[in-house]
Amino acid sequence: MVLSKTSQMATNFDRGETIGLSLSYHNKAVIRFISSVITKILARNNLIYLQDTIITIMREIIVNAVKANSKRLYFGFQNLDINDSEAYLLGMESFKTFIVDNQDFVAEELKKSDYKVFVYLKKFESGFSIHVRNNTPIHPTEMQRITARIEKAKTYNDFSEVYCDVTDNSEGEGLGLVLTVLFLKNSGIGVNSLKISSDSNMTQASLVVPFQLKPVTVMNKIQQQILEEVSDLPTFPENILELEKLCSDPEVDYRLVAERLSLDPSLSVSVLKLSNSAAFITRRHIDTISEAINLIGMKNLRSIIIASSARRILDERYSSFRQIWDHCNKTAFYARQLALAFGCGKIVQNVYLAALLHDLGKIVLLSTSSALSEWMFTLTRDRGLRTSTVIEEVSIGISHSSIGEKIARKWNLPEYLVEAIQWHHAPLNCSESYRDIVYITYLANKLCGIEGKRFDYYFLEEEVLQRYHVEDEAAFMALHEDMKRKYLEQVPQKY
Ligand SMILES: [Fe+2]
Ligand SMILES: [Fe+2]
Repeated sequence: MVLSKTSQMATNFDRGETIGLSLSYHNKAVIRFISSVITKILARNNLIYLQDTIITIMREIIVNAVKANSKRLYFGFQNLDINDSEAYLLGMESFKTFIVDNQDFVAEELKKSDYKVFVYLKKFESGFSIHVRNNTPIHPTEMQRITARIEKAKTYNDFSEVYCDVTDNSEGEGLGLVLTVLFLKNSGIGVNSLKISSDSNMTQASLVVPFQLKPVTVMNKIQQQILEEVSDLPTFPENILELEKLCSDPEVDYRLVAERLSLDPSLSVSVLKLSNSAAFITRRHIDTISEAINLIGMKNLRSIIIASSARRILDERYSSFRQIWDHCNKTAFYARQLALAFGCGKIVQNVYLAALLHDLGKIVLLSTSSALSEWMFTLTRDRGLRTSTVIEEVSIGISHSSIGEKIARKWNLPEYLVEAIQWHHAPLNCSESYRDIVYITYLANKLCGIEGKRFDYYFLEEEVLQRYHVEDEAAFMALHEDMKRKYLEQVPQKY
């Protein structure tokens, strides 16, 4: 129902009609609906990479509009004249705690009231505009504060500067606007595309998004640091690449491979560990390299050798990021199962390896700037953003998938791995030859994200689901349940 309604709105928008909706409160369902429409509009206009940016900005603007209406409502309850400056100060003292502590009550009261928020979208030749209007005038003090914040936000180059400012400056008031301005700056939409206006009846925030974005060359301190970090990484060990080549020889003697592998004890341990992991379905415990090769086969062994070595390089350099690797292991399990379920048996090993390594870049990102990363993580969680990549991209101007891509290139990893790492959050951008590898890695990662409650079905790329004939939410849920069951069946007996 929601899927087809949002598709219809996107079609009307493309025909040049103004599309819109009204709401009284920004509950989850409303935000999900609007996000879904925006996603479709952007996808159809070749701007899908702006998805997270636009959705985040929209959400901030809508929340502010609802807040402005709530303020009027609250002043009404308190019998305070909002236009009287003393009464305004008095009311504002208690308003903030009131609105946080009484969300459900405020939502109900707004629904009963005449206070509404209207969202309009309109396409024109060179771009499109989004207007969020609420039917109360803005308070002059508020207008002054907003203008000052926007001006201040324009002076920031990256998030480390905001971070320094707000951590010594109370609870990070007005962070939403700062975020919005930085999003506009770094996405190439431009800071001046957001306008806030008001008359005696209403307040309107308008955002104009051009189809042709200005190229941005934001090169800030952290980005510089991360890029240096990547270029300082050791190269991929020569002996591993040789060993991998050896495994690719169809005539190779298993014993020779086992022998060579055993010369590297820590690699042997990793191979055994991965062979005993959930991905390889077996009831028996593998103790020796020869058993491992027999069981998992040469092709899988190649994947495991590469994955283990990549991990070893990163683990030696940075403190261990167990959580990320655990997530990658689970993603790899799902990816393998999905490939089998979708009849892509031929690329099972590639998909498995791609998923094992897809978040490589996260490790470098997290270790380069840990205090900032932690803060970004909190911000992402608190603001209900779907993925940490949004904040990374905005704050640093580079996402973990791009960092991963750079590492993969430095290590001369095969092109399919480079693409899977690079596009695991934006699968539609991949090249035709690696579509299945990238799509399945993307889906496997999303399954984990859904389990972590960071996404839901409506955020998935339709094109990806269609490729594997997953027709609707029920079919998707059934697939996910099946994957979960398979995973659980394997895990207990392994660990
Ligand atoms: Fe990722
Ligand atoms: Fe991931």
